[in-house]
Amino acid sequence: MQRVDLDWKNLGFTYRKTDFNIRYTWKDGEWGDGVLSSDEYIPMHMAASCLHYGQEAFEGLKVYEQKNGDVVVFRDIENARRMIRSCEKIYMPPVPAAMFQDAIDRVVAANRRFVPPFGTGATMYVRPLMIGTGPRIGVRPADEYMFIVMVTPVGPYFKAGFKPVTLVVEELFDRAAPNGVGDVKVGGNYAAGLRASIKAKNNGFTEALYLDAKEKKYLDESGPANFFGITKDGQYVTPASSSVLPSITNMSLIQIAEDMGMQPQRRAVPVEEIFDFVDAGCCGTAAVITPVKSITWRDREVVYCADDNPGEYCTKLYNRLVNIQLGIDADVHGWIRKLTL
Ligand code: PLP
Ligand code: COI
Repeated sequence: MQRVDLDWKNLGFTYRKTDFNIRYTWKDGEWGDGVLSSDEYIPMHMAASCLHYGQEAFEGLKVYEQKNGDVVVFRDIENARRMIRSCEKIYMPPVPAAMFQDAIDRVVAANRRFVPPFGTGATMYVRPLMIGTGPRIGVRPADEYMFIVMVTPVGPYFKAGFKPVTLVVEELFDRAAPNGVGDVKVGGNYAAGLRASIKAKNNGFTEALYLDAKEKKYLDESGPANFFGITKDGQYVTPASSSVLPSITNMSLIQIAEDMGMQPQRRAVPVEEIFDFVDAGCCGTAAVITPVKSITWRDREVVYCADDNPGEYCTKLYNRLVNIQLGIDADVHGWIRKLTL
């Protein structure tokens, strides 16, 4: 295998063309066999339900080259399960977990030369997506769908990597409603989040931190990632909310925190509690753990890392998570799946 020649250490979180994507179609009530394609475009009917009525869901996961050269994926069965929940919630036929995993194996194998080398900090980002392709002019689920998995080598989501970012509490715009679709990974949530995200950036912050849409009293999450804080007595706290996406990274950090002797709490987190935390982070596949330097709420700011260095807890959690992903620490929970290439 001759790897492509890229500046691996300096990749951003941007799209880069690779050799293949894999596509499956759902027609007459069943999934076809996947086909590898080198085409970056999708021929589609102009009345496709994804274009008009938002029948679209996606996933995000990462493939790593480990210390011993194995190419592995992290907890992809959890992404497969979440994709099923997303599909069901917006009336799309669920992608069977075995098909989801088979698609990852096939598309990564076909793009092996784009898997970033161990030790560079880069990873292969895997983006499965599902769209309603059948034409609809009335609001109804489509009768045809396409499931695609594309891959692209990436660096950190937030430009600085493992460097603290600034958040601002968003009080006007909501990302998702309490009984809406915020707890699944559908494209519309991200379109809805652009206003707050762009407002935050225009005001000099890295990202917005949402409040619960009903009472505006409790923390929800950030646009592309879950949020956690560390209390003065060293406990990991993360919001429980029906409008937050259940993050697989967060779920893993809760387990890691427990393994480290902490007693993680998933509960309603009143916004005022930001002033009691001693450390905080954003977590997600793309964000990994991004330490939070400061949070601004109305005219008040709380600073967690005055010197721009990540906090002690973020650093400990980050190292353990990444070391498991890279095969440096033991995978005691069975989170790693070696790919057949
Ligand atoms: N929250 C939102 C809105 C996201 O888009 C993501 C990314 O997937 C996350 C949280 C983190 O989830 P995960 O850790 O499963 O990637
Ligand atoms: C991910 O972390 O995989 C995501 O899908 C978040 C996205 C906004 C980049």
